[in-house]
Amino acid sequence: MTDTLSLPPRATPEAASFRDAMARVASAVHVVTTLGPAGRAGLTATAVASVSDNPPTVLVCIARPSRTLAVIEASGLFCINTLPGADHELAEIFASRRGIEGEARFATRPWTTLATGAPVLSDAVAAFDCRLTAVQDVATHRILIGEVVGLGGAAAAPGSSLIYRQRQFQAV
Ligand SMILES: Cc1cc2nc3c(=O)[nH]c(=O)nc-3n(C[C@H](O)[C@H](O)[C@H](O)COP(=O)(O)O)c2cc1C
Repeated sequence: MTDTLSLPPRATPEAASFRDAMARVASAVHVVTTLGPAGRAGLTATAVASVSDNPPTVLVCIARPSRTLAVIEASGLFCINTLPGADHELAEIFASRRGIEGEARFATRPWTTLATGAPVLSDAVAAFDCRLTAVQDVATHRILIGEVVGLGGAAAAPGSSLIYRQRQFQAV
């Protein structure tokens, strides 16, 4: 049996090395939206995953300073909109890279709603309309668990999807 006290200290990767490794992983790009008393809000996110299909459940990890996070927690609802391959500009807008804030981020695309009232991008590859069911703080982020109560997005055969890899957007 190994004496754990005699093991060499485990080398924790530097944050920058971790980010470089994660940059090699291709991720689908989503805009996570919600609706609050001050109107619609949303942010670009890649930290999204499917959790279960019974009941349909997803998660998204959001940095705690995010303004959208506060609105989601107050409203208890959000929608994950998976972006089509051509729409890297919308990802830039919702990542606060165009100086456009709040409701104005929604001005240039058609939106609709499903069950919760959260904005649904009309030409999303897929949209997952969610009721917030649980939250968990981990490190700098908050993990939001959502039960999917509506599905939307482009009904026709899906076109390309937007991914982020090596710090660049690509259509696949
Ligand atoms: C490709 C890409 C992926 C991102 N993924 C996430 C994410 O998963 N979670 C997160 O909290 N922020 C993520 N961000 C950063 C947010 O979009 C950004 O901080 C945004 O300004 C937050 O807006 P808000 O404060 O209005 O909510 C991502 C940004 C980019 C460009």
